Amino acid sequence: MPSPWVQRFSTLTSAGDTALDLACGGGRNGRWLRAHGLIVTFLDRDVSALADLSNVEVIEVDLETGGPFPLKGRTFDCVVVTNYLWRDILDDICAAVTPGGLLIYETFGLGNESFGRPRNPDFLLKPGELAAAVKPAFRIIGYEHGLRTEPSDAVLQRLAAIKQ
Ligand SMILES: C[S@@+](CC[C@H](N)C(=O)[O-])C[C@H]1O[C@@H](n2cnc3c(N)ncnc32)[C@H](O)[C@@H]1O
Repeated sequence: MPSPWVQRFSTLTSAGDTALDLACGGGRNGRWLRAHGLIVTFLDRDVSALADLSNVEVIEVDLETGGPFPLKGRTFDCVVVTNYLWRDILDDICAAVTPGGLLIYETFGLGNESFGRPRNPDFLLKPGELAAAVKPAFRIIGYEHGLRTEPSDAVLQRLAAIKQ
């Protein structure tokens, strides 16, 4: 099931747009975008859950080596990141959005430690952190930091923003 936040803001994309599903896991969000006609690149350090996909770009790479960002110089009309945080590459993620393009980000926020994992603050966004990370290059069109109750209790931070 794709993230409802991704579903909501992906209505701003068009068939034929390019998209990146970064740290995609099984690719639930990228699969959703692909089903709506986007040309999706899937990236993860473990792409074994994408074996059923064909005619699609799948990049298997570790994003946390400290080396250059593997997609440096490439941009996408839509970049989606859910349930993943590695602060060192936040600027690279922003740079991977085409001007006029859309960033959709959703991951755990501070407060989640009361409900479950992750509890490590390295993997929990501070209130306003994503908004601060994308300014001033992006116009924020959606932002939340709070409790989600379905399918389980978790504190999430969500952002959708258009690159100026
Ligand atoms: C909690 S899963 C989220 C998957 C997907 N975005 C979703 O929401 O369904 C986190 C994903 O980040 C990937 N990941 C973790 N560390 C990574 C790294 N260093 N480089 C690339 N991918 C990584 C994992 O393999 C996993 O697929």
